Amino acid sequence: MINPYEVRKDFPMFRNGIKMQGKPLVWLDNASTTFKPDCVLDAVSAYYRSETSNSHRGDYDLCYQIDERILASRQSVAKLINCQPQEVVFTSGTTASINLVAFGWGVKYLKKGDEILLTQAEHASNVLPWYKVSEMTGAVIKFIPLDKDGRLTVDNLKQVITERTKIVAIAHVTNVLGYIAPAKELAKVAHAHGALLVLDGAQSVPHLPTDVQDLDCDFLSFSGHKLCGPTGIGVLYGKFDLLKRMDPFMTGGGMNAKFDMCGDVAYLEPPVKFEAGTQNIEGILGLKAAVDYIMKIGLKNINEYEEELKRYAVSELEKTGNSIIYNAKSEAGIVTFNIKDVFAQDAATFLNSRGIACRSGQHCAKILIDYLKVVATVRASFYFYTTKEDIDALVDALKHGKEFLDAYFN
Ligand code: ALA
Repeated sequence: MINPYEVRKDFPMFRNGIKMQGKPLVWLDNASTTFKPDCVLDAVSAYYRSETSNSHRGDYDLCYQIDERILASRQSVAKLINCQPQEVVFTSGTTASINLVAFGWGVKYLKKGDEILLTQAEHASNVLPWYKVSEMTGAVIKFIPLDKDGRLTVDNLKQVITERTKIVAIAHVTNVLGYIAPAKELAKVAHAHGALLVLDGAQSVPHLPTDVQDLDCDFLSFSGHKLCGPTGIGVLYGKFDLLKRMDPFMTGGGMNAKFDMCGDVAYLEPPVKFEAGTQNIEGILGLKAAVDYIMKIGLKNINEYEEELKRYAVSELEKTGNSIIYNAKSEAGIVTFNIKDVFAQDAATFLNSRGIACRSGQHCAKILIDYLKVVATVRASFYFYTTKEDIDALVDALKHGKEFLDAYFN
């Protein structure tokens, strides 16, 4: 059972009494990024204070130690998602991970007329790289229809998948509506048609248990900063035989075994084949601390607690009588809404005046608005350190309803 008041003691952003607009900060933008506990800050700081060296490049102790700690970080990530450490590629984040699959796999193997399936609920990072692959290869983008609530179902995938489908690229948890995709069943359907399942785990890995072997997904991407880790570090998981067959997106030092003046080049094995240049060492070490930290709290506990917060937020918002909720039925700790007759960005600006941080707009999911039939929404998103008091503060602010803007300008 999570006690958010206890875990907050680990976070300087809470301990230090940070304010916004002179009011105690109410942080409800965790789908965007998360706060960092001391152990992450300490890991990053220790690297610069007493452990600095480059990785894979030195025959001296400081370098050996860093190499060992990078391996330990891969092992922690492997434990988090139940894969082998050599299947963990460090990237700069989810966007870089998906681009790596799109360019390293998609551009290499897709041909004219092949199909890539997406949904309208995807984040830009899981749409635009595939548009680029389509442009470069002649592969066709198709959208799997969402059901009446905005959910991706196995039946809907079955309606559009064909023998030409080579990639099914979807979010495990969508970043605006917060639905959990039935990834295991989707993988079975994709594989039965000879397609790969490429999962965007940016909003799932930080919030629920993830077992890539059980899901049988082919690739999974996620970011460190959404799970209490540093920014600029992320992961691409890929099945090892796929990583072996995939091309690197970037080449350079650290990823090659040899090259000569005739242009003959041999790459190292994955994962380092995909990690050209000096690695983001502070990020990798901070990521390990974050992964160990959230595993100690327990992903099952996090998931259950956020589901409870979600139900509470929906029921309290419904009581206001002036909220339009777009995802009351979804599972994740994300509530997307509008206040009747108030533009989303005005609402968010008003919330800011009360010290409450919520995201507003299209949340990088710019084709979802055609489905929602609304140009912008407000999104409140939770994590294990969110309290019911945070939600009460949000609801209390929103009660103003139509007097919203008057309240702001008065
Ligand atoms: N992907 C992040 C979000 O959904 C930035 O807000």
